[in-house]
Amino acid sequence: MHALASSTLENNWRDGYTIPSARLYPFQWNWDSGFIALGLAWSHPPRALEEVRSMFRGQWGNGLLPHINFHQPNPNYFPGPDVWRTAAVPAAPQDLATSGITQPPVFAFVLERLLTTPAAELPAWADFLAELYPKILAFHRYLYTCRDPHGEGLVYIQHNWESGTDNSPAWDAVLDAIDVTHAREVAHLRRDIRNVDAAHRPTNENYRRYIALVDLFARLGYDDAAIARESPFLVQDVLFNSLLARSNQSLITLGRRLGLDTAEVEAWQAKTVAAINHKLWDEEAGHYFSYDLRAGRLLRVRTSSGFAPLFAGVCLPAQADRLLGGLTTHFMRSDAWSLCASTAATVPAFDPVKYWRGPAWINMNWLLHHGLARYGRTELAARIKANSLHFMAAHGYFEYFDPRPPAEGGAAHGLGADAFSWSAALYLDFTLNPAPL
Ligand code: DGY
Repeated sequence: MHALASSTLENNWRDGYTIPSARLYPFQWNWDSGFIALGLAWSHPPRALEEVRSMFRGQWGNGLLPHINFHQPNPNYFPGPDVWRTAAVPAAPQDLATSGITQPPVFAFVLERLLTTPAAELPAWADFLAELYPKILAFHRYLYTCRDPHGEGLVYIQHNWESGTDNSPAWDAVLDAIDVTHAREVAHLRRDIRNVDAAHRPTNENYRRYIALVDLFARLGYDDAAIARESPFLVQDVLFNSLLARSNQSLITLGRRLGLDTAEVEAWQAKTVAAINHKLWDEEAGHYFSYDLRAGRLLRVRTSSGFAPLFAGVCLPAQADRLLGGLTTHFMRSDAWSLCASTAATVPAFDPVKYWRGPAWINMNWLLHHGLARYGRTELAARIKANSLHFMAAHGYFEYFDPRPPAEGGAAHGLGADAFSWSAALYLDFTLNPAPL
């Protein structure tokens, strides 16, 4: 498995960065890149540094870290740079085409974790850390400055693609409310459904809305204030904010090591931790949900994003108890359910094979594993880890997996893209890096 993980990462390596998978995603993706660096740190340590550096080559002047860097042209993906139209935006880099939205902020905790890998023993490490720290800080500052209009300590995402959990049923109500009367048809432009089973991917109706948002942002010149005024999609995502909180914590830890003043980050962090627990916690459900700023309500759809506050360490012990009660009632419904599904099996929209509407993802189970360990649930944490490794050993380094037990119809093969980089990378992290996070 280690050799296969290394060769998967090797095959997906391009000129200084790693693509998530040749078949579906031929560029560099933001949060993928973070998880991938954690595997490269074991298979090819200097590349972990190169990977992160390449990602930050796409950073905008205002601090935004784009969700895609289009390092080289490739016609096998939609929407490409011609749709994003960021070249004319003054803040965008001049020498690299990028998308104009971001993804969950993972890089600070990725850097902290790299400290416990061979990457931190490289002679180049100290310079790398000193170089990246202010860039990550600038990204967080962008989020707090441009994505938190009411100063709540919760930042909003502008697009479901910024959540990382692209077609989660949590976004259905927001997307359905978008008026697409004048939006263009995009079904014929999609490349993803030519490359993998359309049943495993978002629907055309969804995609039309995704692109309607991108077209709106391009028309508004990626001006965040204008987007906040006009866009129908403004959501305080629980996964995004929890990973931001975990990353703030790492900025504080790393900043102190570097002898820097961390007061600014500490102030963000105190607000964010309190706001996640106050605004995104639903006492009745015993679960965390994302908040729709447009509609002024929680999006009460149980997804695995609601467990991310465990990883961030923001839950009170009583909340952790309630959450974990829900994990066994709604997600891993008996011991035969090996991994945490992305959407609870009790949600009417649950679809065990469709992308983020049910399948189990390795990165979400990795976050859950560390969250459980953090809250002293060592047995369950060990089970999630063992089952993650087992799924990959049995099926390969797929993008996602049917979470149902075979006796309940669970597919005996992996889903989405195969030779998927972050699955391979996290296999290496799971098995070679015993440090807690
Ligand atoms: C895709 O193309 O499905 C990506 O996840 C969007 O960034």
